[in-house]
Parts: sequence; structure tokens; C-alpha cells
Amino acid sequence: MDETMNLLLAPMEGLLDFTLRDVLTRAGGIQRCVSEFIRITDMLLPERVYQRVMPELANGGFTPAGIAVRGQLLGSDPACLADNAARMVAMSPHGVDLNFGCPAKIVNRHGGGASLLDDPELLHRILAEVRRTVPAGTVVSAKMRLGTQDDSRALDCARALADGGAMEIVVHGRTKLQGYKPPAYWARIGEVREAVNIPVIANGEIWSVADARRCLAESGCRDLMLGRGQVADPGLALAILHDQAVNHANDARAPALSWPEVLQLFAAYWGIVRAHIVPRYQAGRLKQWLQHLRRRYPEAELAYQALRTEQNAERLATTLLGEHASVPFDGRFVGPTGAGRYTAGFAAAPPPLPATHPSNGRFLQGIQSEQSERHRGVRPEERAAERAGAAAQDA
Ligand SMILES: Cc1cc2nc3c(=O)[nH]c(=O)nc-3n(C[C@H](O)[C@H](O)[C@H](O)COP(=O)(O)O)c2cc1C
Repeated sequence: MDETMNLLLAPMEGLLDFTLRDVLTRAGGIQRCVSEFIRITDMLLPERVYQRVMPELANGGFTPAGIAVRGQLLGSDPACLADNAARMVAMSPHGVDLNFGCPAKIVNRHGGGASLLDDPELLHRILAEVRRTVPAGTVVSAKMRLGTQDDSRALDCARALADGGAMEIVVHGRTKLQGYKPPAYWARIGEVREAVNIPVIANGEIWSVADARRCLAESGCRDLMLGRGQVADPGLALAILHDQAVNHANDARAPALSWPEVLQLFAAYWGIVRAHIVPRYQAGRLKQWLQHLRRRYPEAELAYQALRTEQNAERLATTLLGEHASVPFDGRFVGPTGAGRYTAGFAAAPPPLPATHPSNGRFLQGIQSEQSERHRGVRPEERAAERAGAAAQDA
């Protein structure tokens, strides 16, 4: 059995789309992504819906950094979910993930997401129907919370998913009622893990290497899924892997990213946004990531305060990035049969990584800047995270 830890990038509707997936997987440390949810009601969605949410489908299902993306579906009708799963699978994502965690009201009114956790029997039917419909060998996984109002049915739900054919389950260690309010109950995830004989991946409130250590210890899980923590600190996955690699050596300095390194990533992000997002939304995208970065980087806080009212993305990027803003972005997706992920790279001939650097990304290989101050101020979470579902996917 492979004992290597896997770090997954969480699905985050309205925040972590293919543009941010691209840049965060370039930073390294992430082994797999899950797309934002695609809402399934009562019809077979056209291929373009899947392509829009997961443009990586045109790239063999990989982000440009070569990280696999699994497509996530949200719905409550077993047959309809199964038919849509089959359609999506024909487009070669790296598996199908089913969402039983979304707490958003607009979603739950239609009987999807976390509300299904009151009905383990339906969970089982959904899994079984999807499993039966997609080709053998397709990975079908699920993402759940601990329950709706309380966590008393968490084990029943997990068993229903496993018995229905889920290959693995991500457990976000909170109920629907608990929303995104800390803490996440990692020990309870451990009980779920013990109740099923498939891998369980722990998720929720992992903002630092110390959180990751505690979550691993309390849940007993081998793998973690990172959401807001990785958005706020794009070096988090690398730092966690490094911490594991040095076996939690007491004062091992994990290779978190310096602010200049984050700015390099931000420059790449700006290139991606400029290439793929219509101009009137570009500034919003840049500010949205900057807003999350404030939690980890005081420099981001300063920049955000200075730029929060700026509507023009070009001006915003130029002010923030200086000469980096004009770094040409020449990467692009290639077709499913194409050999390369990006047809062109960013930096010529990057030097090899230091031996201790656990990065599997490429972008940072060329970055040699000094690591800056390690301990940074952390702001309280600046916004409620109840956006999932508000922007339902159209057909
Ligand atoms: C803005 C936002 C959007 C989210 N969208 C999804 C989604 O589409 N599918 C899903 O399964 N979970 C979604 N989630 C839940 C996250 O995947 C994750 O379980 C949660 O944020 C807890 O992890 P974290 O504390 O590491 O952020 C979303 C969370 C947020 C904050």
C-alpha cells in the first residue's frame, strides 16, 4: 500500500475555479483537485457545461501543472446524476465526485448537498446508480459533512456511501448547521474512518503545518484536503509535505513561500485571468485572491487596503506587481491528445530544486528569492463562506 501522504485541493464554488486551480497547483504540493460542483437537476447537461467548469477536460483532465482534476456533481436524483456522470466520464475527468456537503440554502431547497445526509438510504442509491452507470474502473468518490443538524448519522452516511461503491470519501468535519464556524471536528472524522474500509480524507480548518499535524493525529487519516488555507497560503501544501518529510523535526523551517514568491504566482495568475476572464470581472478576481492572501501575508493586507476600490485590472496589476505585471503569459491549454500541458513555459531553464524541496510544481523552480519573515500576522476570517450554490450552473 502506498503510504505517501496526498494533499487534495478542495472544490470551492465561486472562488477556486480553473484559473486559481491552475496557479495553486503550480505552486506545488497538491496531488489532486476536485472541480467546483456542477448542479444536476432533471436533465442531461450539454458537454459545454462540463467544459466551462472544467476546461482542464481539454487537457486530458490535468491542470497545466499536470495535476489531475476530478469532476464534482451535486444533485439528488440517482438516475439523473448517473446519466450526467456517464456523460462527464466520457470527457475524461479523473473520476466523479459527488457532493454531500454543500450547506447553501438554494442548493438544499432542491434536495442536494448536505441535506441528503438525513437520508443515508438515498446516499446509497445515488452511489450505487452512479457506480453502475459509469464504466468499471472509473473512480467514484464522495464528499460529505458530518451531518445536517447533528453528527449522529455520520457513520451511517459514510457506510452508505462506501457500500454504494464510493472508492474514497472526503469528510469535512462539521455539520451543515455548523457551516464554516471553527472548529472542525477532526477526531469525529477519525471515527468515520474507522467505520468504513475505504480511504477517508480529512478536511476543514487546516490553515498551518501545526493544524495539519493535529488533524492527522486526531483523525488518523493519511490524506488531507486543503481549502481556504491553501488559497490564503499557496505554500501550505509544500510546507506540510516538507514537515512530513523531515518527520516533524522540531524546528524544521518549512519552505513556506515568501511574499516575492507569492507575487510571482500572482503575476502568473494575472496572466491567466487576463487570458480567460472577460475584462469587467478581472479586477474582482484579482482582489478576491488578494483578500484571502491577507490572512497569511501582511503585505497583502497593505496592498488590499490600497487597491480595494480599484476597478481597473490593468492598473491594479501594475500597481501590485510592478514589472512582473507585464510578464507575457504564453501558456495555453492543448487538446486532449496533445503531449504538453502548456505549450510554452514561463521561465527558461529553471535551476533544479534544492534536494529538500518537496515541490512537484514547476513554476517555483525558477524562483530564488529570499524567504522573508516566517511569522506573519493572521487576520480573522474576513468573510462568511456561504457562497456555494448561489451561482447555479446554467444548462
Ligand atoms: C466559497 C466556498 C465554496 C465551496 N464550494 C464547494 C463545492 O463546490 N463543493 C464542495 O464539495 N465543497 C465546497 N466548499 C467546501 C470546501 O470544499 C471545504 O470542504 C471547506 O471549505 C472546509 O475546508 P477548509 O476549512 O480547508 O476551507 C466550499 C467552501 C467555500 C468556502
